[in-house]
Amino acid sequence: MSVETESQAGAPDAHDERPLLEVKHLRVLFPVKSGAVVARTVGHVHAVDDVSFELREGETLGIVGESGCGKTTLIRTLVRLIDSTSGSIRYRGEDITKAGRRELEPIRRQMQMVFQDPQSSLNPRKRVGQILATPLKIREVPKDQIEAETHGLLDRVGLHSEHLNRFPHEFSGGQRQRIGIARALALDPKLMMLDEPVSALDVSIQAQVINLLDELQDEFHLSYVFVAHDLSVVRHVSDRILVMYLGKLVEISPAEELYHKPIHPYTSALLGAIPIPDPKENRARERPIVGGEPPNPISPPAGCRFHTRCPRATEVCRTVEPQLTEYANGHAAACHHPQNVSGAEVAAGTRSPASPLSAGDELPTEG
Ligand SMILES: Nc1ncnc2c1ncn2[C@@H]1O[C@H](COP(=O)(O)OP(=O)(O)O)[C@@H](O)[C@H]1O
Ligand code: SF4
Ligand SMILES: [Mg+2]
Repeated sequence: MSVETESQAGAPDAHDERPLLEVKHLRVLFPVKSGAVVARTVGHVHAVDDVSFELREGETLGIVGESGCGKTTLIRTLVRLIDSTSGSIRYRGEDITKAGRRELEPIRRQMQMVFQDPQSSLNPRKRVGQILATPLKIREVPKDQIEAETHGLLDRVGLHSEHLNRFPHEFSGGQRQRIGIARALALDPKLMMLDEPVSALDVSIQAQVINLLDELQDEFHLSYVFVAHDLSVVRHVSDRILVMYLGKLVEISPAEELYHKPIHPYTSALLGAIPIPDPKENRARERPIVGGEPPNPISPPAGCRFHTRCPRATEVCRTVEPQLTEYANGHAAACHHPQNVSGAEVAAGTRSPASPLSAGDELPTEG
């Protein structure tokens, strides 16, 4: 089944509840300006380009891809911090793509962001107690309960009451991230957008923060969108994983299946780049991902955007854009030469993209 027109990749069973988020054909273009006196738009960065997916209640969707592929832009657009160029976003069935400030307010509280760098997202001039009290006031928690609530929040993220009077710079990176998580929790969210929440932390601390997020998810029935630039981080937390390349969704799959049977060559390349823990430095070393640099997102390559770096690329890849196609079990990919796909799975798709390379690609005619 093609998932390009009505993306159903990983769609819930008919008896499931409505998805928490439904994203269709989302596109975000940033204008590129030039000119010393009068700035003119001379092009656009294709940050998110025709991305469709769903998020179910209570699930964790991992979003993975190299730096600059559009992960942050995507999640910031979902919480309406960035305006989309086209496409639609539904939250619990309600179209919020163009919702105004007032309509958005209650929904925004339900969707909280946790940032990669808590240092810059926490106000350095405010003590932790004040940082946590602000969202509680927004939630209209009675004044006499705020102190008890801030103590409870700190305790829940593994910090202590004596931390309430300290400033963010007095904490370690892991502790600061715990404060960032407590601040998000203070608004009683349903959905947390976690933007590389552990990327800046040492490997040993990463696991602790991931475990905390895992516990909080169960306790507060949270749904997560968990962004990372490598697949090792999201493996154990994600129910499904979405892989992006240069603004495009190139593969989406139940998590374990993605690791065992990646369909898209870019996913395979990312799997080859899983960091190897380096005990000497207490940090991860990364194997190289894939040769070459990502192309310029202002003028992305024609055809498949990955063709300039793909070892499987053929002529058709250079001219015809591969469509996202679902093969099995909510596992979909956009590739003319999918890997790990059986003949039956290819037959189940609406097109027959699994032409073995030796069968020769037909050269599409120009124009
Ligand atoms: N406000 C902006 N204006 C112009 N370009 C932007 C802006 N924000 C991000 N970009 C560009 O959009 C692309 C995607 O960026 P981003 O979403 O931050 O990627 P990621 O989070 O995957 O590293 C990059 O090329 C980046 O330079
Ligand atoms: S469509 Fe072609 S270039 Fe793109 S990932 Fe598949 S094989 Fe590689
Ligand atoms: Mg980012």
